[in-house]
Amino acid sequence: GRVIRMEANFTEEQEALVTKSWNVMKKNAGELGLKLFLRIFEIAPSAQNLFSFLKDSDVPLDQNPKLKPHAVTVFVMVCESAVQLRKSGKITIKDSKLEDLGATHFKYGVVDEHFEVTKYALLETIKEAVPEMWSPEMKSAWSVAYDQLKTAIKAEMNPPA
Ligand code: HEM
Repeated sequence: GRVIRMEANFTEEQEALVTKSWNVMKKNAGELGLKLFLRIFEIAPSAQNLFSFLKDSDVPLDQNPKLKPHAVTVFVMVCESAVQLRKSGKITIKDSKLEDLGATHFKYGVVDEHFEVTKYALLETIKEAVPEMWSPEMKSAWSVAYDQLKTAIKAEMNPPA
């Protein structure tokens, strides 16, 4: 798989902060994923236009059956990234999968600002989901894992050859 090198070391403690909060949150993954994207659309309403299945739908946003899976995927992949970062100091996603991810996000017009809003909304969603665990260290651990994954996806966001 393609390899993205870390600048800093992702510590065992940081991995533990991500995984222990995810272990609590994953019971409500669907609900939290939905919350994450409702928050994103609250901050950046136009981001809804990126999603083909939202654009042409009469179903209310919070009841759209296709929104949850993408939202949960974002959570799961960031969490997996944290585990990989700790294990090997890098994010390894199968080449073909990473290429698809890059191509899809490029094709649908996802830009830097969307990734930034999503990061902010992700951290807020986690903070509200596990307030008793939340700390600056936990925030930083999720941030690093998210940023590394974002960097890996963005590296593949080029016009198709
Ligand atoms: C599709 C993951 C961030 C918008 C997808 C897919 C995955 C994914 C797995 C489906 C794969 C494919 O079709 O090739 C992620 C991860 C993210 C992320 C892990 C963050 C680290 C974002 C952001 C936006 C976004 C920030 C925009 C706000 C979309 C759109 C699609 C998509 C529009 C296509 C949906 C459709 O089929 O209409 N994403 N995504 N994603 N993602 Fe993301």
